[in-house]
Amino acid sequence: MSAVIHTQGLEKTYAGKKVVLELDLEVRQGEIFGFLGPNGAGKTTTILMLLGLTEPSNGTVRVLDMDPARNPLEVKRQVGYLPENMGFYPDLTARQNLRYVAELNGIYGNEADRRIHDTLNQVGLEDAGDRHVQGFSRGMQQRLGIAELLLKDPGLIILDEPTLGLDPDGIRGMIELIRQLRDERGLSVLLSSHLLHQVQQICDRVGILNEGTMVACGSMNELINQKTAEGARLESLEDIYMHYFHSAPAARRL
Ligand SMILES: Nc1ncnc2c1ncn2[C@@H]1O[C@H](COP(=O)(O)OP(=O)(O)O)[C@@H](O)[C@H]1O
Ligand SMILES: [Mg+2]
Repeated sequence: MSAVIHTQGLEKTYAGKKVVLELDLEVRQGEIFGFLGPNGAGKTTTILMLLGLTEPSNGTVRVLDMDPARNPLEVKRQVGYLPENMGFYPDLTARQNLRYVAELNGIYGNEADRRIHDTLNQVGLEDAGDRHVQGFSRGMQQRLGIAELLLKDPGLIILDEPTLGLDPDGIRGMIELIRQLRDERGLSVLLSSHLLHQVQQICDRVGILNEGTMVACGSMNELINQKTAEGARLESLEDIYMHYFHSAPAARRL
């Protein structure tokens, strides 16, 4: 299986308005795919359809060869998902929060202890495991969120705006952590962000979404140094983004 996520003609309509249009998305095994686009582009809506948390209005979705609308529980079991807004129990310690999530996933006893120890280490929270989460910075909470999704040892993780609200140091740390997860655990990653310069350095391929339409998709090499119809050279992802952001959606595909 080379594609871990595959959608065809995927669409979502809210109150008569299409917010995701004819989306063909492919995320390949072992890659970090940057799912980029401004606020309101349709990234979160797409992610919710990938997870079976909202139903597509049109089109097909395959995630790890499953249909999330039919097998939402199995998809949930195998895919690690970091939502835009994480929820923790503030009065519990990091370790207690992880234990609770482990139990929800059917992981108990020594096995839970081992995984909690490993994931706290993996995300750099080994010294904060016994502190209450209410004292955690946003960056630490995001790391705890990653630890939580790693508990079930997923092969694919979907991170929705994982750098949101982080300071520059926190952003660098989060980017480095995502790179490590891919390199050390061989995870496939779908990474959504509206701040592309932060994430472009670790993405193997990116898709740029604007008003529900994928306006550009490809490897960094494919996208950079393309010429526009007007002959301008797009030298960075930032150029590409600005170009497509200000052009009609779907008018041009690279
Ligand atoms: N539950 C909902 N009901 C109605 N409209 C929604 C709902 N969720 C999202 N939208 C709309 O869909 C569009 C895409 O939103 P979203 O997927 O959250 O974008 P992004 O994650 O890229 O910022 C926006 O116009 C948003 O207002
Ligand atoms: Mg969003």
